[in-house]
Amino acid sequence: MIESDVVVIGAGVTGLTAANRLRAAGLTVTVLEARDRVGGRTWTNDIDGVTLEIGGQWVSPDQTALLETLDELGLDTYDRYREGSSVYVDAAGTRTEYTGDIFPLPEATANEIERLVEVVDEYVAAVDPARPWETPDAAALDETSFRAWLHTLSPDRVATDNVELFIAGAMLTKPAHAFSALQALLMAASAGSFANLVDADFILDKRVVGGMQQVSERLAERLGDAVHLNAPVRTLRWTDEGVVALADGGLEVHARQALVAVPPPLYSRISYEPPLPRRQHQLHQHLSMGFVIKVHAVYDRPFWRGSGLSGTAFSPYEVVHEAYDNTEHGSEQGTLVGFVSDQHADDLFTLSAAERKARVLGSLAHYYGDEALRPVVYYESDWGTEEWTRGAYAASFDLGGLVRYGADQRAAVGPIRFASSDLAGQGYQHVDGAVRIGREVADEILAVTPVSAGEGAAGSSV
Ligand code: FDA
Repeated sequence: MIESDVVVIGAGVTGLTAANRLRAAGLTVTVLEARDRVGGRTWTNDIDGVTLEIGGQWVSPDQTALLETLDELGLDTYDRYREGSSVYVDAAGTRTEYTGDIFPLPEATANEIERLVEVVDEYVAAVDPARPWETPDAAALDETSFRAWLHTLSPDRVATDNVELFIAGAMLTKPAHAFSALQALLMAASAGSFANLVDADFILDKRVVGGMQQVSERLAERLGDAVHLNAPVRTLRWTDEGVVALADGGLEVHARQALVAVPPPLYSRISYEPPLPRRQHQLHQHLSMGFVIKVHAVYDRPFWRGSGLSGTAFSPYEVVHEAYDNTEHGSEQGTLVGFVSDQHADDLFTLSAAERKARVLGSLAHYYGDEALRPVVYYESDWGTEEWTRGAYAASFDLGGLVRYGADQRAAVGPIRFASSDLAGQGYQHVDGAVRIGREVADEILAVTPVSAGEGAAGSSV
């Protein structure tokens, strides 16, 4: 039996950021992690001799909380390769090379896309990402799907197809009919603006030398043997005075406070004794994971660069709707990363592994030419089969869910609190959001948990 002030469930960036901050303030902390590794949705792994980012990897300039953490942990960043032209494939399958942010479409449609980005940003300006349910007209915006809403803003379906891609396929990884306009505005507001999301050079600016998972690994190192791996928490017994967390391996942690730092769709994997209140039972059912397959294809050399291509490619009409140069820092090989989202991902997994690979590489070849058909390493990240994640990138509410439940999503239940990047405001669904919400929830716990005599501040607060 272990006794500590706080038990943290989940050793992703959220849980580990909070644990470090709590410990630095003088509380004792135990972290219980289901997997045999820390990092959760960040995972830097060697596949057939090549280092790949299986999960979260990019950092944008406004992600200042993550940038501070990287600095504090002594981790360096490097620029995503982006020299040269991008590639766009239109509805007819025509491939065009272009530069700048706006897709090479007929002038009227390109202008319409620019106008729509501005219109969406006028709405975004009124959204506080920490309280999107307080946005003017929030109820109406939350009961309309993003697709239906865009259709009210423009009759140009090519323009709306392209604009919806930036948030549907590329961010929430759900079809644009499956989430609300308000949810889309939250996504954009959490990144500063819709113009930021549309700008790959902004939102996918930098990577971490050696990989993003090191953030969690270094945070966990500081906690030492307070982090327990292979310890999925099955039961949380709670009263107003404290909690007992029961995990595999016979681990039993008695604590004054608990932080459940797991993806929201997994809250119900834990048995709460007594059960959570009605409100949590209801609201937790309205948060669901999107789904995207992140595909890596590694080549002997970054052959596209020689043809003047940056490696950046987009098409709302291709299986791989976006792709980038994802070459590892200092490597002579060349790596492309592509994304297959929502229903395309479902469809792809009805095929055999060989058929899937042929479809994905065929799509990459459409963007970059036939050399893309012959990678030396090919890897599909399938977060849908990961028991302790169950989708990618993150969770979002269904239609109407933000207004109906959003304000209560972080409410404490007795000594139990919930936090993850999926519940963050700024940095929502991103590693930066995990750092921010990890800090915030630690401060909430500190506000109600006096440091016992004899315990003193230790370590860095991150
Ligand atoms: P996370 O899910 O990481 O951590 C939760 C932890 O809880 C996990 O370690 C899990 O094993 C554990 N757990 C679950 N149930 C448990 C139980 N019952 N008991 C104990 N432990 C339990 N972000 C970004 O900023 N830039 C990017 O480029 C990308 N790209 C990207 C690609 C892909 C493929 C994915 C999947 C995700 C991204 N993201 C991203 C998103 C980013 O990775 C994500 O938002 C954060 O890493 C989430 O961190 P959290 O700690 O909140 O949850």
